[in-house]
Amino acid sequence: MTLRVSVIGTGYLGATHAACIASLGFQVIGVDVDPAKIELLAKGKVPFYEPDLEDLLASEISAGRLSFSTDFSAIKDADIHFICVGTPQQANSLAADMRFVNAALDAIAPLAKPGTLIVGKSTVPVGTAARLRERLLKVNPAVDLAWNPEFLREGFAVEDTLRPNRLVVGVTNDAAESKLKELYKSNLDAGTPWIRADLPTAELVKVAANSFLATKISFINAMAEICEAAGGDVTVLAKAIGYDPRIGNRFLQAGIGFGGGCLPKDIRAFMARAGELGAEQALEFLREIDSINLRARARVIELVRKDLSEDLRGKKIAVLGAAFKPDSDDVRDSPALDISAQIQAAGATVVVHDPKAIANAEKRFPALSFNQSIDATLDGADLVLHLTEWKIYREIDPSKVKGLVKNPTIIDGRNALDRDKWIAAGWKFRALGRADLN
Ligand code: UGA
Repeated sequence: MTLRVSVIGTGYLGATHAACIASLGFQVIGVDVDPAKIELLAKGKVPFYEPDLEDLLASEISAGRLSFSTDFSAIKDADIHFICVGTPQQANSLAADMRFVNAALDAIAPLAKPGTLIVGKSTVPVGTAARLRERLLKVNPAVDLAWNPEFLREGFAVEDTLRPNRLVVGVTNDAAESKLKELYKSNLDAGTPWIRADLPTAELVKVAANSFLATKISFINAMAEICEAAGGDVTVLAKAIGYDPRIGNRFLQAGIGFGGGCLPKDIRAFMARAGELGAEQALEFLREIDSINLRARARVIELVRKDLSEDLRGKKIAVLGAAFKPDSDDVRDSPALDISAQIQAAGATVVVHDPKAIANAEKRFPALSFNQSIDATLDGADLVLHLTEWKIYREIDPSKVKGLVKNPTIIDGRNALDRDKWIAAGWKFRALGRADLN
């Protein structure tokens, strides 16, 4: 009989996982405590922007393989239960808030059938899985717990879930591994690397991967600072070092740095956990990674002041981009919005455009102005900031929009625009890590 699967927590991770697992032919029930979210999902609507997800979700619901509920008892027939709830940063510390993970385990434990498997997917401090397993065995010794970290990127969530570049499973016995192999059979058949690990290693793979990615970005942003000081060009430098396959050219895009719901909080939680383990020194460098990242935001504001004036009062700044990255409407810890808010606090009038993220941005930053039209956003601007590299911004014709602004100066905070084209159209062009050409 085909496996029945429950997914607890239907945010980015859970909703995507539920739809993708259903598309493999399994019967899936998604459960969340948020009735509004569940109501939307049950209608085949995704409460956030993620390319391809809505189509997949809707087709799996109509195929009868996927359903949603706020009632936890709906999970009782499942053979595998995935925990996909969030682990945000705690308000008063660097550590992760584990309340949702703990609550999910406590909700599943008494309901799970004997012989079933609970699988954690949330990003958690190392040691969590072992702790939860112990807690589970006290309540329901006939159920096991494994950890299976997720590496999906927002904007590519469906692709990354259906065709992951590796599958990592933290297990304590062969039976748990076999059950997960049954679920992921199509990936295994397609040759996806399968890594069996113990529980702590599986948890660590996830935070180590995100720490490495954050380090790569901060490394290139540190090089951008040096390029600025020495008159070099970080985009050329990145391209040149990237040809060395040991370095690789991905994730070396210098600019205003990383944001989102994962990298910033994951490196902080990792440092906090290392401290608890007495291994604080090993991750000291992540503090520097975090500082370089936040400094990139401050450096853009310095550029704004340099190109306008120390006094930003009465200036209109047009911001292109609010999401923490393109192809997403996620504004959690968005560098673009952080910069916009700081400039606004310094007295400027800031108008922000984004093709997808305005609704979310408005909720978090009600004091900023937003506009759905690029032209209206640029209208009368003293300066334009390009802060999220959506494709539509690369397609702007700089000569066409020059007449809209008061002063044709653009700062490319993502090093993604065609500098020559903007300069040829008569714009003053500024970027992080590149010497000024005009
Ligand atoms: C990240 C990881 O890439 C995923 O593998 C992981 O599964 C996910 O976190 C998670 O933990 O759930 P995501 O948050 O979607 O995925 O975003 P990334 O694509 O990693 O981008 C993070 C930030 O870095 C963005 O703000 C992006 O603009 C910035 N970035 C990325 C750069 O500034 N430069 C680059 O070269 C690349």
